[in-house]
Amino acid sequence: MDRSAIEAVKARVSIAEVVRRYVDLKPVSGRWMGACPFHQETKPSMSVNDEEGFFYCFGCQASGDVIDFYGRINGLDFREALEQLAAEAGIELGNVAPDPQAAERKARKNLLMTMHDEASEWFRRNLRMAAGETARRYLSKRGMTPDVIEKFGLGYSPDDWHGLLNHLNSRGRTPDLGVEAGLLSKNDKGNIYDRFRGRLIFPIQNLSGRVIAFGGRIITEGEPKYLNSSDTPIYKKGDHLYGLHLARTTMTRSKRALLTEGYMDVISLHQFGYTDACGVLGTALTSDQVKRLAGFCSRVDLVFDGDNAGRKAALKSSRMILLQGVACRAVLLPDGEDVDSLLQTRGRDGFEACLADAPSGLDFCLETLRAQFAPREIMDWAKSFMAELADPSLRAYYLPRIAGGLGLSEADFRRDAGVAPARYAGQGQQGRGPARNVPQGQGRGAQPRPRNLTACGKEDKDDQYFLRFPIQYPDYVPELARRGFGQILGTQWARDIWEKLKHAQQGHVMSLLNEEEKRFYIRCREEMRENVLSGSELLDEWEHICNKIAFGQQKQDRQQLKEALREAQISGDSRRIDECFRALEESLRRDDEQH
Ligand code: CTP
Ligand code: MN
Repeated sequence: MDRSAIEAVKARVSIAEVVRRYVDLKPVSGRWMGACPFHQETKPSMSVNDEEGFFYCFGCQASGDVIDFYGRINGLDFREALEQLAAEAGIELGNVAPDPQAAERKARKNLLMTMHDEASEWFRRNLRMAAGETARRYLSKRGMTPDVIEKFGLGYSPDDWHGLLNHLNSRGRTPDLGVEAGLLSKNDKGNIYDRFRGRLIFPIQNLSGRVIAFGGRIITEGEPKYLNSSDTPIYKKGDHLYGLHLARTTMTRSKRALLTEGYMDVISLHQFGYTDACGVLGTALTSDQVKRLAGFCSRVDLVFDGDNAGRKAALKSSRMILLQGVACRAVLLPDGEDVDSLLQTRGRDGFEACLADAPSGLDFCLETLRAQFAPREIMDWAKSFMAELADPSLRAYYLPRIAGGLGLSEADFRRDAGVAPARYAGQGQQGRGPARNVPQGQGRGAQPRPRNLTACGKEDKDDQYFLRFPIQYPDYVPELARRGFGQILGTQWARDIWEKLKHAQQGHVMSLLNEEEKRFYIRCREEMRENVLSGSELLDEWEHICNKIAFGQQKQDRQQLKEALREAQISGDSRRIDECFRALEESLRRDDEQH
């Protein structure tokens, strides 16, 4: 990874500016506070420190720098977040293997998106014109208001084989380009024609609101009911969620996503004020989609038809969401209804009643398993669930809950599911140190949360206490290093951080730290703001640590003396024995004086 580019992005992009795009920030004694978008929270629990370039949530301990924040809230990985922020700030990313085709591909994608804009406009115009009469009647019959038709950019493709083809042609786009864009189709004979004919058109937009594909619903009779764009360089089925770019602002506020199956369902939900709704569009929910959602909210409410097919789909989707460590609820509608029909006939009250009754995703899964599956299938489900968890630290969370829900003893289930107790307890292997072996879950921002540094033994506590000082007062790092500060640290994780503190250039520690370390570092920096030491307090603290180091040094010296004494005794060297005794006594006397 290109460190200098990372530092340049952090220097150039203000974290407060970026956070403010998603969260209301208020100034509180020299820093910014706002409601954390990564867990269920309305109170301002998140602190944003623009000077030092990090955020920290006192509620869920979410923390990191501007790249972490941006990536997490947009469901991007570190590389993607870095690239986008760098582009925003006009920073060249060096160290990226120069790819002569990259610029070309990018230009191609841009062209395809422009063609989608052109097509989208044409579809919308058709809906307004004479040819769109049937479609307009259809929409009004289904209770769609002009507002929501506009908001979702609905359009109409006339029942014509060459309408869009001609339109694109007038814009200088060749038919083959139209095929590449997924807007036109080509038959075996090589003839090219409109893919969408006589259909109501739903533009599918990416997170920035660019149209990247279309869905089309037949409005007279015909097959198939829905037709979607084929995969193209700018659209891959299962990567996107319908309506997400419209829903994400509300999601970050409500901390919830309403996830449904259909175009009409999403639109109806928005029309009835549920603006945190989006849709999966006829494919199985993918883990990428869940990660994307998890960047915006901490709970996904799945809305499904109450029939058998709906239940089955809900079971699959809940499983996918729970596997990522994201909370969910299963909202099942009365048999024969979908969200759209329910809202249109019974309004918000009808839907609220279903929401109120919705079980948690896990309860729903267990209930459905018990009611509809054979014992063998149930155990297969449970075992494969445990095996497929995205983050092993989630096993500890799910194990007792699944065992309990299926009426199994925890120990039996743990054995059957092949979960080792040491791992399950979140300790073991390395024994010391705060869960360093636990990778950060992808289901970030969602419960159950990974463990943090507060739950650990005395050695950890001591080390946390000692480390706080050089983190809070980095000016003292060189002097502490000279005195051998590292010796008083009893745990490996603390020594690792100390090494990084020693070797980082002033103010550039963060980029050397891993996730866990960063969290600890940021917490220390934050605590300092809460509790600024006065001059004399700082001096006391300094002396205390210096004494500790000296004391640690003495202890170590004495240990060496004892060893030397034993060796001398073994070899029978009486002069050496005498020397060692004297030195040891001297050391103990000094120690007494000090305490
Ligand atoms: N779907 C699809 N292709 C089909 C049928 C369905 O891609 N041949 C997707 C569409 O995204 C559709 C969703 O699956 O919105 C749900 O399908 P369905 O319940 O049949 O349609 P509705 O969304 O309820 O549409 P409508 O209310 O207009 O009947
Ligand atoms: Mn429907």
